[in-house]
Amino acid sequence: MTKYIVEGGKPLCGEVEISGAKNAAVAIIPAALLVNGICRIENVPQISDVSLCMNILEQLGAGVRMINRHTVELDCRHIHSTRTPYEMARRIRASSYFIGALLGRFGQAEVAMPGGCNFGGVRPIDQHVKGFTALGAQVTVEGGFIRAVAQNGRLHSANIYLDVVSVGATMNIMMSAVLAEGNTIIENAAKEPHVVDLANFLNSMGANVRGAGTDTIKIRGVECLTGGSYAIIPDQIEAGTYMAAAAAAGGQILVKNIIPKHMDCITAKLQECGVEVEEHEDTLLVRRTEPLRKTNIKTLPYPGFPTDMQPQITTVLSLAKGISLVTESVWGNRYRYVDELRRMGASIQVDDKTAIVEGVDHLSGAPVQASDLRAGAALVIAALAAHGQSEISCVHYIERGYENIVAKLQALGADIRSVEVPDEGEELGIG
Ligand code: EPU
Repeated sequence: MTKYIVEGGKPLCGEVEISGAKNAAVAIIPAALLVNGICRIENVPQISDVSLCMNILEQLGAGVRMINRHTVELDCRHIHSTRTPYEMARRIRASSYFIGALLGRFGQAEVAMPGGCNFGGVRPIDQHVKGFTALGAQVTVEGGFIRAVAQNGRLHSANIYLDVVSVGATMNIMMSAVLAEGNTIIENAAKEPHVVDLANFLNSMGANVRGAGTDTIKIRGVECLTGGSYAIIPDQIEAGTYMAAAAAAGGQILVKNIIPKHMDCITAKLQECGVEVEEHEDTLLVRRTEPLRKTNIKTLPYPGFPTDMQPQITTVLSLAKGISLVTESVWGNRYRYVDELRRMGASIQVDDKTAIVEGVDHLSGAPVQASDLRAGAALVIAALAAHGQSEISCVHYIERGYENIVAKLQALGADIRSVEVPDEGEELGIG
């Protein structure tokens, strides 16, 4: 397995180019199954979750052709199976999107329970199931697979009110409804940039989806989607992670290829901490020369502060003068990384959903282990800011969602390298 060795304490300086958004890509790739034609998708991030989605697509009979590093052509005209391979699909949460897409196009889908979750478990999919059922599907769980079948061969329209704001349920229901008969309405929908991106992708292929980005999405079912070309939006969380890295380690970086509006929630909080952020058309200049100041943060669905930035911002706050409070209100438990930060000298107490962060003068390098994607990103940030050497293990989590993170940080002057060590076993993660 791979580990990262980081010599911390060097300010970051230079430019970083942000890749396409992971959480848009892992939905848009399965959504290509809805298209009876060729989709050309640009700005595809080169990360392991995306490769896995493309492998699953290929196993179902899709043609997958890389045109260049970030452009792929997906041909879903000759799909021969509606059952995803168990081992591949169970590894990622995003495999749930294959249910919406297969069900929408073929009226049936069999997909392994995503990420080992169960109905009503830690990462429930009850709202996805509520949507599919309202659209006329019967959903059962058999042998580790979720099986969804349109009772009359084709789904019909429905009014669906989501009981919780769920990105996954909003996107999955959107996929299953674009080819359904009639007009579907999703209320209390998620408004994240990747929800809008999926709607734009589907519309560019011939769907009729309106209202994405508000809490009411209206979908008029069409007979079929044909091919087209689409570019994925930049990754809000990847950009936020580099901003947080510059905040923690100090220095000045130019974050390129971003949509500044998507960054507002992160920019505002970093500015409260004393970080200077200058906005340009599609770049942000981030500078930290002064000591960091405390702030309080609560994660919320978009446009609130993203839960996927919570570990990274907590790491920044671990170096800010004073006591900061961080409240996680999207996920039940997203503080597993705190024990690792404590190894590096952070002073953080977790009380249920709140982390009480008492800023310390500096962190010290240590051997630490990533427990999931964003936890891993937080440890990289901590290691960059820390005095001395850190060794980060289980970095396969990080590589699920960050393209070329080592090279991108090296280009910013960071002393980070990737080394191969004998395998100690892998775990499944979230994402
Ligand atoms: N929820 C339910 N029932 C459902 C679905 C969700 O109760 O049927 C609850 C969840 O338990 C959670 C909340 O609703 O408390 C939000 O979950 P959501 O469905 O929005 O999350 P997701 O679609 O499973 C995506 C991202 C996550 C990100 C969340 C929230 C992907 C592949 N994953 O997950 O990203 O944290 O939205 O923004 O898009 C990451 O990238 O590191 C990551 C974990």
